[in-house]
Amino acid sequence: MSIDRRLFLKSAIATGLALGFPAVATAQRDKVYRTALIGSGWWGTNILREAAASGRCKIVALVDVDRRQLDKCAAEVAKWVSDQPKLYEDYREMLEKEKPAIAIVATPDHWHPLAMIDAVKAGAHVYVEKPISHTIIEGRAMVKAAREAHRVVQAGTHRRVSPHNVSGRKFLQEGKAGKIGMVRCFVLYGGDGPEQPRKNVEPPKGLNWDLWCGPAPLRPFNGGMHPKGFRSYLDYGNGTLGDWGVHWLDQVLWIMERQWPKTVYSTGGRPIKGKPILTDAEQTTDAPDHQVATYEFDDLTVTWEHRQFAGNPAEKTESVGCFFYGTKGTFHMGWQKGWTFYPLGRGGQEIHEEPKLNQPDDQNIKELWSDFLSAIETGRRPISDIEEIHRSTNLSLLGMLSYKLGRSVRWDGEKEVCVGDSQANALLRREYRKPWVYPT
Ligand SMILES: NC(=O)c1ccc[n+]([C@@H]2O[C@H](COP(=O)([O-])OP(=O)(O)OC[C@H]3O[C@@H](n4cnc5c(N)ncnc54)[C@H](O)[C@@H]3O)[C@@H](O)[C@H]2O)c1
Repeated sequence: MSIDRRLFLKSAIATGLALGFPAVATAQRDKVYRTALIGSGWWGTNILREAAASGRCKIVALVDVDRRQLDKCAAEVAKWVSDQPKLYEDYREMLEKEKPAIAIVATPDHWHPLAMIDAVKAGAHVYVEKPISHTIIEGRAMVKAAREAHRVVQAGTHRRVSPHNVSGRKFLQEGKAGKIGMVRCFVLYGGDGPEQPRKNVEPPKGLNWDLWCGPAPLRPFNGGMHPKGFRSYLDYGNGTLGDWGVHWLDQVLWIMERQWPKTVYSTGGRPIKGKPILTDAEQTTDAPDHQVATYEFDDLTVTWEHRQFAGNPAEKTESVGCFFYGTKGTFHMGWQKGWTFYPLGRGGQEIHEEPKLNQPDDQNIKELWSDFLSAIETGRRPISDIEEIHRSTNLSLLGMLSYKLGRSVRWDGEKEVCVGDSQANALLRREYRKPWVYPT
């Protein structure tokens, strides 16, 4: 960032013109945070853009195991600011050399735990993407590391600060939809038929595939896995429930002020995409093409449903969101279409609120970043604090655990164990590939 621009932004903040930062002590307000990005792909670049736009962050380093992603991200940075970040392949080297005050972790999911834990141990506050972890015990270790290091760790569930989600929460908490007895969360996209296997190929030049896989199994490479494709490979992501599910299940915990369910059951499969294939020559994805999960809380039933076929043409709301079913009507909390309340009975007027989303990609990262800096400056917990999003992530991960087991599990959310179920408890963690060590 040019000095002139930084000075302008600083004085704008001082005169209250800046992007909604709360009042903070002058010394804190003038601070510019040395900021590093770990995982310089699609979403990491989106977050970094807001870090730069805040005028409070100097971009000192970009990390990626793929040189092409690094170069692309560096070219973007050059459009926003005059900072000249150093480029790294290994985040551990970056943490040691740069000692950033803030690290953004936007790698594929299987890398979030080690990168976040190492970053807080190196003294950085961290903005880590959702789902925070790939298995539940990693998430617990992340919360512990954040607390022991006394660092702020914000997770990327920006729906907690989206204006329409905030007003929708207020509407529901004021009882305007009555008593809520059931919530149905869903993401229904796509219309594909059987999945054709892709040929395994040599990783492209510039991509360190061994480091990309890191603690997870080393699968043969194909072009569908990276970038972005990891979500549908269960070694690295947790399918649609792990990817999208966290956003909507988090909305339920946040709006209904719940912490964890008593029981979880999930079923699903790949009747449309077909059986997963993995041979030396070729492979397909292995995440379910549809899935249903049921979460039983005291006095509340929550369901999750996703489909990667047939979209959602039969319902007039959008293809994503949650329906809160109350004694006064049905409330749809959505994304690009905001929220709508459908009152019970004849003659009732629908109530609707449009969203206020930022570009690109219709998100509210700007507001979440602002909350992150404010938490660092005031020492309060951020809105998407790591412990809360650990619990939201657990809902997705317990759904996947039940899906893999093929039966329901009883969950003790206090102790974070499946009650009397050694087979289920074995799935709360997984073996890491050497030399990586599973965090505890
Ligand atoms: N909050 C949201 O709304 C939202 C939206 C999109 C993505 N995400 C999350 O962001 C994360 C990244 O997703 P994406 O779509 O940007 O994927 P992506 O593939 O575009 O980017 C991930 C990048 O991380 C790099 N990487 C892999 N291992 C690394 C390592 N050890 N060190 C540094 N870099 C490494 C990859 O090479 C890749 O460039 C995911 O966890 C995803 O769930 C969140």
